[in-house]
Amino acid sequence: MAKENNNIVIFGASGDLAKRKLIPALYHLYANGMMPENFTILGVSRTDYSDDAFRDKLAAFLRENEKVDEAVLARFSQHLYYLPINPAESSEYSKLVTRLDELSEKHHTGNNNLYYLATPPSLYGVIPECLADHNLHDQSNGWKRLIVEKPFGYDTASAEELDKKLHRNFNEKQLYHIDHYLGKETVQNLLVFRFSNGMFEPLWNRNFIDYVEITGAEFLGVEGRGGYYDGSGAVRDMLQNHLLQVLGMVAMEPPAAIRSDSIRDEVTKVMQSFRPLSDDDLKNNLVLGQYTGSNVRGEKLLGYREEPGVAEDSRTETYIGLKMFVDTWRWNGVPFYVRTGKRLPTRVTEVVIHFKKTPHPVFGANAPENKLIIRIQPDEGILMSFGLKKPGAGFEAKEVSMEFHYQNLQEAQLLTAYERLLLDAVKGDSTLFARSDAVKACWEFVEPILRHKEDPDVLFGYAAGTWGPEKADALLKRDGREWRYPCKNLTNTEY
Ligand code: BG6
Repeated sequence: MAKENNNIVIFGASGDLAKRKLIPALYHLYANGMMPENFTILGVSRTDYSDDAFRDKLAAFLRENEKVDEAVLARFSQHLYYLPINPAESSEYSKLVTRLDELSEKHHTGNNNLYYLATPPSLYGVIPECLADHNLHDQSNGWKRLIVEKPFGYDTASAEELDKKLHRNFNEKQLYHIDHYLGKETVQNLLVFRFSNGMFEPLWNRNFIDYVEITGAEFLGVEGRGGYYDGSGAVRDMLQNHLLQVLGMVAMEPPAAIRSDSIRDEVTKVMQSFRPLSDDDLKNNLVLGQYTGSNVRGEKLLGYREEPGVAEDSRTETYIGLKMFVDTWRWNGVPFYVRTGKRLPTRVTEVVIHFKKTPHPVFGANAPENKLIIRIQPDEGILMSFGLKKPGAGFEAKEVSMEFHYQNLQEAQLLTAYERLLLDAVKGDSTLFARSDAVKACWEFVEPILRHKEDPDVLFGYAAGTWGPEKADALLKRDGREWRYPCKNLTNTEY
């Protein structure tokens, strides 16, 4: 897919996302020769910057945070522009039309425009309308694409509402719902690992797999985002999008081809097959938690309710543990245990496939199980554990492992998630973006949890730096299983 010349218009350009993620990603793509020959980046926001002030602010941020090549940065900056308008005011978009015309002429970028909505979600419905009022959605003279950041709605109804607004002027092929987990190399590797190896796929089903664990643990708390997070919580912030996307990749059927729609069709089918959560599931198969203040490795950590921006009596969940099922031929009866939380002992995202034990335990009841651990971050890699004879007399089995670490690959220079996804959007490849029907299916799945969490009695406390409420352990113990506790010594690299 060619990288065609284009204008990238970032709405919300004076905000944090643009500064911390988008501009650094575009700078790296440029520095590595991955941007098209002719392009411009036009920041749009209400704050009154000149082009130069905008460039200086971003250059200062880049210099502060990494080693930049000054010559490259100077050339990159020449592609950066800024337009101060109120993005909620349609009448101001005539200035955007004029500016884009000028830039297209100056940089020979043609009329391909990529619009990035890095604004507060309240503007997601408004901006596309304003663009359409000024014919900036019209594809007759060049492509027009729209990248939307999560949250894609607040619940099923608002997600549908937003979807309607977006589709009023942009069709599905023009819409790119960004879920940065899909931009992670190791999440994409789930596809390659599963479907390019003859040895794993035959075992990847209910006949051989006992259960699957998906963990998205963070050591950090809400990091100054209390205002946003308190209205969101772990279900909306991590489960509805990132973790269910990962589950989709773990559980999908082989796609007919490595093409955007073939892959997304299969992922969406998984999401549409999530077994709806019953009242009994909400009571017995779901654990919601909130962290309390604690001392962790000599550091005093605030409780969630003491974080700035969080209500003193907040009942927002910072942890969720859930047992769920995918009702398909392949996965019938296999539980998926999913958990995510803030202020857990360490940062680790991983998928663990637990294989069934041998039919007859010839080496004793405690023979090790076979596990496949797919580490998404940090220290991206794969570990396979299995039993081996313990040296010495007798025939006792011992658990050993084979490990692969991405960092050992020669070409281990991984693109960050935003780099990969921005590059794909510029190329018009939507494979790694969530499709509207998948987003809808995930909202429908979590909807009962959203209602359930309004009940004041369903939230449990956990001390910051622990693996969530005790009840979360019971969730697996009851089934004769247990969560895997990675990083036992709390180093990030230990499997
Ligand atoms: C974001 C959430 O989407 O993902 C954050 O809003 C969370 O709360 C982050 O910390 C996690 O992303 P990563 O890439 O650090 O696992």
